Amino acid sequence: MLQFLPNYNLAPHNTFGLAEQAKYFVKVQTEAQLEALLENPIYQENKVLWLGGGSNMLLTQSFDGLVVKLEFLGKEREDISESEAIVWSAGGENWHNFVQWTLDQNLGGLENLSLIPGNVGTAPIQNIGAYGVEIKDHFESLKAYDLQKKEWTYFSPEECQFAYRHSIFKAQAKGRYVVVAVGFRLSRRNHNLRMDYGAIRQELERQSLAPSIQNIAKAVIAIRQSKLPDPKEIGNSGSFFKNPIVSNQDHQRLLKEFPDLVAYPAGHEQMKLAAGWLIERAGWKGYRKGDAGVHAKQALVLVNYGQARGAEIKALAEAIQESVYRTFAVALEAEVNII
Ligand code: EPU
Repeated sequence: MLQFLPNYNLAPHNTFGLAEQAKYFVKVQTEAQLEALLENPIYQENKVLWLGGGSNMLLTQSFDGLVVKLEFLGKEREDISESEAIVWSAGGENWHNFVQWTLDQNLGGLENLSLIPGNVGTAPIQNIGAYGVEIKDHFESLKAYDLQKKEWTYFSPEECQFAYRHSIFKAQAKGRYVVVAVGFRLSRRNHNLRMDYGAIRQELERQSLAPSIQNIAKAVIAIRQSKLPDPKEIGNSGSFFKNPIVSNQDHQRLLKEFPDLVAYPAGHEQMKLAAGWLIERAGWKGYRKGDAGVHAKQALVLVNYGQARGAEIKALAEAIQESVYRTFAVALEAEVNII
């Protein structure tokens, strides 16, 4: 049974904790419910916002339409060989709990992605990544409903067109598909341990942990907790901006003026700049106006200390973009969806 709730406060459903209203709100838990929803006049007569964990959006106003919260649950494992398993998770599962479930079964691949907020179903949309791993590296397939053709369909890794914090679902397929389940290819033995990114190796040593997938997850959790705010305590959406990719030429130009610029090679003749460094260097780290602020330990994360409105956070984001552009002539692009 679909239950449409009118004038619904979205605060518990977005990790920024913004108290914007939806004209209607409904939870969908099964494929049959999703198909029934599409026939419902409230769906047909309103604009629709599909919501997963609400961890990658900034609500700047009330939503004059129907918010559909996707709550499909369930996980399964299929061993396809001595060395590999395919695991499927329904889209409404919490991402971190799903990663822990794979690690409890000694399945390797997702350990570097521990503690990323959000749900499984939204992870492929922006190809979530951390500590040298992106979900595209272990993605097998996803199941989605095609709202245009009104049929169920599957996407291969190639069809998803994954790139840095990007996929087809943010581009030409935007708004057309509802992702309900995601499959991953994971290792059962001889795990490929990725410890070279960031401080993983140092953290393992600091905690005297032997290299293993479970211990890498522990290290990643410790590192994330040390610099990223917990959305349950301080509202936030992780990195607010993408790390900008510039030409080698622009990188060289910036290095002359800012020798301590932080950057990483990013494919052909390009460099990825640490946006956190640019924002900190432009003077914003720890900035606060009212309840909207820039996190004191990671300048790439914008925060809501309590009662900030989405519009205030958006204004802060725009001020940061202008200031970074003025200082470095580099454009910062938002990673979160601004609604
Ligand atoms: N830095 C600063 N000041 C800051 C923050 C960063 O100077 O305030 C510099 C430091 O030199 C630091 C470097 O930037 O070593 C990189 O910082 P960090 O390791 O925190 O990573 P990031 O590039 O800022 C990206 C992802 C994160 C992910 C981490 C770890 C993006 C937009 N963000 O951040 O993802 O957890 O790497 O892999 O790519 C997210 O997408 O929500 C997210 C948190």
